[in-house]
Amino acid sequence: MASSFHKERKAWFQIKHQIVGTYLSLFLGKLGKFGDRVYYVDGFAGQGRLEDGTEGSALIAAKLAAEPPQKSRQGLLHCINVEADSETFENLTKATAPYNHCVTNLQGTFQDKLPEILKLIGSQTAFFFIDPFGTQGAEISTLKTLGNRQGKTEALVRYDDTRVKRLIMWSANNLDNLEEKHRKVAVGLSARVKQLTDEEAAEQVLRESLLGSDSEMRDRLIEGYEAEVKRQTSFTFGLNYPIRNPATGGHRYYLVHFCKFADGYTHMANFMAKAERTYQKLLSGDAGLFGGTPKQQTFFQIDEQLAKQAEAEKVSDITMEVPAIILHKRWENKSVQLRDLLGEIVNSFKWRTTRHEWIKALRQCEANGWLSLSGTEDGDMVHFAEKI
Ligand SMILES: C[S@@+](CC[C@H](N)C(=O)[O-])C[C@H]1O[C@@H](n2cnc3c(N)ncnc32)[C@H](O)[C@@H]1O
Repeated sequence: MASSFHKERKAWFQIKHQIVGTYLSLFLGKLGKFGDRVYYVDGFAGQGRLEDGTEGSALIAAKLAAEPPQKSRQGLLHCINVEADSETFENLTKATAPYNHCVTNLQGTFQDKLPEILKLIGSQTAFFFIDPFGTQGAEISTLKTLGNRQGKTEALVRYDDTRVKRLIMWSANNLDNLEEKHRKVAVGLSARVKQLTDEEAAEQVLRESLLGSDSEMRDRLIEGYEAEVKRQTSFTFGLNYPIRNPATGGHRYYLVHFCKFADGYTHMANFMAKAERTYQKLLSGDAGLFGGTPKQQTFFQIDEQLAKQAEAEKVSDITMEVPAIILHKRWENKSVQLRDLLGEIVNSFKWRTTRHEWIKALRQCEANGWLSLSGTEDGDMVHFAEKI
């Protein structure tokens, strides 16, 4: 039982870490190109290595800092980890000891340590990973502080919609409580809810708590959170991805990415799309993850066939969406950077399609005579035809 729990946990940890690790590597590659220091701040770092040997976010980042895939980025990434629990902190210190030259571990709460961290990193580029159990750290006010700092800033936040829903229900049920202490707590929680979603979403959750489906309520909460963060902070792009348990398909929480530039948005969407493919593979029992035997060769070939078919469908969907984007943006007979067009594609498909599929679709659009591409890098130009 315990071991199957660990295996399952390992599987959804893997998905989270695939997103954090691959994105951080790209972040360092892109934003480290001027040779300036780049910071990774793990606000809820955990112990670095789990009992079963799985590497946590802090260790993944430390290894990347010590040995980046691009040698020219050597020595640029510095990791700052914050951990509140003393035993966990001790383990974190041990796990990251070989990387002391590029890691600073701080014991305490993220909330308390944030001013010190902001001072330390000054106006350098920084990626914040906020991964709490619960909702502490995900508040809109925290994201406002991060968004307002000087220097390029991005954040990846765990959003625990189940806890947010619980806060909403508890505060609503106790605002009229006969006991004053309960009413006081309810008022406090109601203020917290405002830090975690928009008013409309909170009201909808209350109205539909008995009849609405869990997934609809989740959608409203996360949309409300993302919209409020974009409205109240200087982050202009937001993308949320649901982390589920591949053994059961059960929802765990969301990872939400906030940034200010289209490149962060599109590259994160691409990594989330790849994580989704991993999730789908795990869900279908591939790789014998949950004690099952790996699929037989013939099944695997059929899967490959299905994967190809799915890709062709996605490419076709994107191709069909592009004319609507061009018309909506009034891009006929104009030129824009590829990053702007990719940003629009991600607005339509979020994390459901990969960069590989976007480019394939754009090549198809080119063959249809709707546009021409000067290249496939973010900064390359796209010229649109006068008539589509
Ligand atoms: C979900 S775990 C972190 C997992 C880690 N990010 C990973 O992916 O490997 C959350 C951690 O935050 C710590 N924690 C709880 N409250 C905290 C706070 N206010 N500030 C910093 N750390 C806190 C917990 O002790 C726990 O180790």
